[in-house]
Amino acid sequence: MWLAGCEDFLEPIMLDARVAELTRCLPDLRLLTASGDLEHYGRDWTRRWTPAPLAIALPASVEEVQVIVRWANQQRVAIVPSGGRTGLSGGAVAANGELVLSLERMNRVLDFNAVDRTLSVQSGIILQAVHEAARGHGLLYPVDFAARGSCSIGGNIATNAGGIRVIRYGNTREWIAGLKVVTGNGELLELNRALIKNSSGYDFRQLMIGSEGTLGIVVEATLELTDLPPPSQVMLLALPDMDALMQVFALFRARLTLQAFELFTDHALKHVLAHGAQRAIDGDYPYYVVTEFDAADERAQDVALAAFEHALEQGWVTDGVIAQSDAQAAALWRLREGITESLAPRRPYKNDVSVRISAVPAFLHEMQALLTREYPHIEVVWFGHIGDGNLHINVLRPDELAEEAFITQCEHVTKLLAATLQRHGGSISAEHGIGLVKRAYLESTRSAAEIALMHGVRKVFDPNGILNPGKLFVSHCE
Ligand code: MLT
Ligand code: ZN
Repeated sequence: MWLAGCEDFLEPIMLDARVAELTRCLPDLRLLTASGDLEHYGRDWTRRWTPAPLAIALPASVEEVQVIVRWANQQRVAIVPSGGRTGLSGGAVAANGELVLSLERMNRVLDFNAVDRTLSVQSGIILQAVHEAARGHGLLYPVDFAARGSCSIGGNIATNAGGIRVIRYGNTREWIAGLKVVTGNGELLELNRALIKNSSGYDFRQLMIGSEGTLGIVVEATLELTDLPPPSQVMLLALPDMDALMQVFALFRARLTLQAFELFTDHALKHVLAHGAQRAIDGDYPYYVVTEFDAADERAQDVALAAFEHALEQGWVTDGVIAQSDAQAAALWRLREGITESLAPRRPYKNDVSVRISAVPAFLHEMQALLTREYPHIEVVWFGHIGDGNLHINVLRPDELAEEAFITQCEHVTKLLAATLQRHGGSISAEHGIGLVKRAYLESTRSAAEIALMHGVRKVFDPNGILNPGKLFVSHCE
């Protein structure tokens, strides 16, 4: 049996009988089985699991997706839905002979409706292409974050992605007007059909958003668009201590129309500068904030300057710079958005946690004490969307500590962190999802009753447990 090993060569492959059956069902299906492809498509940005998928299917249509799902039920083969594979929780990892179902070939804009101000897209489209298509119609799709050039809208929906503009626009789930989803038994659901008002029972659209590919495969989405923001200004602030952080946030939120309010520490700055970013403030300070706000006219700019000067007088900031050009604004943003990439070579252990904004000061103090005590000789890099109560903690393995011992220590600290979060009513996963990495801590954020109901819901939408098994929790069929 011959099969495309990849675009430019065919290699004779003794086909797994189940895969042979799939090619019989869909003779035109793009299917990859070469080892390089299995490795490439079998993982996301996590590196803890060795990719070991059965094969990679790249359907070109909703109908092909439905045939694949029906085949998977008959053959009892698990499916891992796959978009841009930029996830940070192992949600797109295929390490147990699953079929990876990549939506990358289903990546087109399908329709723009000027009256509804909606953009209908296939789920494999990259976020940046959605931004460009919206701007082409003079509108904005406002969910945005550093992985915009490689993450897919389907993956954003599967994890209810947040990013740097949540403070102004909310998370992905606020912007999904309609969804087409193939459920675990191959049925195609058309959810909400972009209705603004639709009070007709359970909103399965919202249930699908954030379900991490375990209830259905998103094949199309109708996105709500909004007005382009007014001209803005970007400011970098240096803060003397953590207590100043929420004072500055409260001040800037009260006086300005914020578009973003992002925190990072001196450790983060060190790594992002070493990765090529340009220093914008002389001297070293423990905390930094990059904030962007509406500045449509000189009056708004004066208000921003007055806010900065007030913060300076109060000792809440020690230095600051306002970008004078788009290039300078991009350079300031790179200090925040370049952090993940600058840390990636160290393969950090990541926590992505959230508490209510009102709980941030107390939580930050408890968290700082915990991390200082539990990681005495390990570098911990903090950054994140502090305006949403969301903090990213990246723990860097010291050369002298073996990977296994490092992970064991980090899991121990995560257990303590989960207990701290529970006391503050927080979440062990703010925006990255549970996936594989945070499965052990789900019960610190969700009650036993909720988790039991999630199992029940999963059985309804995916009776044979073929959709992304092992992600979020160990399901009924594993
Ligand atoms: C970010 O906010 O930079 C992203 O969530 C990525 C990360 O946490 O590493
Ligand atoms: Zn983030």
